Amino acid sequence: MGSKLFTAVFLGIVSFASAALPPYIKVCKSSEANLASCIIDSVNLLRPKLKEGIPELNVPPIEPLPLDEVKLRSGPSNAKINANITNIKVWGPSTFEILELKPNLPKAKFAFKVRIPSLHFEGDYDIDMKILVLEYKGVGPITGNFTNYSFDCILKGNRIQKDGEEYLKFDKMRLRLNIGHSRITLGNLFRDDPIIGRATNDVINDNTDLFINEIKPVLENSLAEKFTDIANKITLKFTYKELFP
Ligand SMILES: *[C@@H]1O[C@H](CO)[C@@H](O)[C@H](O)[C@H]1NC(C)=O
Ligand SMILES: *[C@@H]1O[C@H](CO)[C@@H](O)[C@H](O)[C@H]1NC(C)=O
Ligand SMILES: *[C@@H]1O[C@H](CO)[C@@H](O)[C@H](O)[C@H]1NC(C)=O
Repeated sequence: MGSKLFTAVFLGIVSFASAALPPYIKVCKSSEANLASCIIDSVNLLRPKLKEGIPELNVPPIEPLPLDEVKLRSGPSNAKINANITNIKVWGPSTFEILELKPNLPKAKFAFKVRIPSLHFEGDYDIDMKILVLEYKGVGPITGNFTNYSFDCILKGNRIQKDGEEYLKFDKMRLRLNIGHSRITLGNLFRDDPIIGRATNDVINDNTDLFINEIKPVLENSLAEKFTDIANKITLKFTYKELFP
């Protein structure tokens, strides 16, 4: 490494470590009269950065948000469906609206309700199903739109010591998904018989809530992990005093 580059990198690290907070992090005084609305403002200010990612904090972009594989192992009573959905990417998470926030700073506990007006997802499916007399096995693309989904979340942190300083570290977020409206399309279904393909998609869409209920735990777990990780990447980078002076 050239000495010039080394110096630049070194200075960069030093100035970052001792620098004030970056401009996209708006602090909320713990004595703030309306702490909830202050935190909501901070999160809103952070939104464009969350959307594109914050490389200097190692925070990946949330648009599109990659999700863990979903395995569906049953289905409604008159259908047997085994499916694996992989390579899932979700667009729209950054358009969340915080409907309600109840901060409890002494306990480092934040309860909030978030609504996402519209989500679009794409992935690949591998399905083996039997619906009434229809049997089908195949692979193809899956796409879908979720509208008006909301989430009840609880983020509970602990103040921890690191290098003689106090930081806030969150436990895994508790997240409950309230299902809104969903529309799902499996491409390539019954390739030789598009009419049955469309009919099957109609059956699936008449029963989306049943399918979504099956994938709900996976979705909740995966979203809780992603968002806890993002929150911790931010709070473990700045001391508690810096974030809540
Ligand atoms: C899904 O993945 C499992 C392995 O995890 C595999 O056994 C199965 O054949 C795959 N496909 C379907 C449709 O379940
Ligand atoms: C999702 O919405 C887009 C427009 O926002 C539309 O083009 C697409 O067909 C919809 N997909 C499904 C599966 O409903
Ligand atoms: C969204 O869902 C809530 C209930 O969770 C309902 O009160 C509201 O009317 C819905 N909004 C739309 C646009 O469907």
